[in-house]
Amino acid sequence: MAAFCQAEKIRLVVIGPEAPLVDGLADSLRDAGIAVFGPSKAAAQLEGSKAFTKELCARHNIPTGAFHRVTSAAEGLAALASFTIPVVIKADGLAAGKGVTVAMSTADAEEAVNDIFSGRFGAAGAEAVIEEFLHGEEASFFAITDGHTIVPFGSAQDHKRVGDGDTGPNTGGMGAYSPARVLTPLLEGEAIERIIAPTVRAMAAEGMPYSGVLYAGLMLTPTGVQLIEYNARFGDPECQVLMLRLEDDLAELLLATAESRLATLPAPRLSDHTALTVVLAAQGYPGTPKAGGSIGGIAAAEVDGAKVFHAGTALKHGKLVASGGRVLNVTATGKSVSEAQTRAYAAVDLLDFPDGFCRRDIGWREVERERG
Ligand code: AMP
Ligand code: GLY
Repeated sequence: MAAFCQAEKIRLVVIGPEAPLVDGLADSLRDAGIAVFGPSKAAAQLEGSKAFTKELCARHNIPTGAFHRVTSAAEGLAALASFTIPVVIKADGLAAGKGVTVAMSTADAEEAVNDIFSGRFGAAGAEAVIEEFLHGEEASFFAITDGHTIVPFGSAQDHKRVGDGDTGPNTGGMGAYSPARVLTPLLEGEAIERIIAPTVRAMAAEGMPYSGVLYAGLMLTPTGVQLIEYNARFGDPECQVLMLRLEDDLAELLLATAESRLATLPAPRLSDHTALTVVLAAQGYPGTPKAGGSIGGIAAAEVDGAKVFHAGTALKHGKLVASGGRVLNVTATGKSVSEAQTRAYAAVDLLDFPDGFCRRDIGWREVERERG
């Protein structure tokens, strides 16, 4: 990758997914003199190891649920005794969103522990974290940092379950909207002051400065904002809604971050409007998605400011077809969540993707609140 970038005179590399970040691609590129947006291998541990993050929080007094780090099934089963139900069990490493169990009974908790140490997640399951269950509403908060300067980059709420009304199995995300107004300016301030800034300072102080976008999964609990987890990247589909709200030059922002001169730029401006995205997935997702389904109507759907992002598509004999689980992200903006939702679904309905499906209720929490 580094040799390719040098040969092609690539000036900036933006690393999207978590696996190459955790693998250290950013370090290899930086060693080759190429500017990179994305954290080093050491800093990407914030996403790559749940135990690393929990212990960092413990060392620096960052609010997060109580936890126990365990390295064997026996240790895990014993640790369960000090938690109440529900309890959360997580494989330590990257498990494509499948390593987390919110156990509603002791039997389920024990099964989840045994499952992790049976080798189901490979190296990612060599360790596990048992965690206190946090009550509240979830919101995601984004901050861009070059290791010193921190700039807020908006909030979002994702919809992880495959079915309407948040039912069915978990997915990578079936839709999102931004901003998440439950994260009020006051709570956002609390998240920056108590979670984001101490994390960035701690990473620098411990010799692994974090550079890139820090995506904090937050729980808004009755006693304050708590960290659930970090991602070391823009989320999918959270990125799509953030991009439609950005009113500045993205490349300039990412390059300034990569070159550690974020302080020299004005803070990025995000529109006050809401952006909402609906994921069109292939039938079968999140199990085995049907590949090859034909897709039409994209130009027709992209009227009225709507934007269709490609996630899992391919050109086959010049025709657009599905080639992944989550295939398209149909994204629109509006003055309210309701308006953005109406526009996004109007665009969805102009698409012709017979082998696809989507949730019909993305943004439902906010739409209900807006209706009062
Ligand atoms: P994670 O991969 O750590 O974000 O976990 C996936 C999902 O599990 C989160 O988005 C939450 O819905 C849920 N979750 C994880 N940890 C907790 C926790 N400590 N308390 C409540 N829910 C949790
Ligand atoms: N949508 C959640 C994620 O990208 O991790």
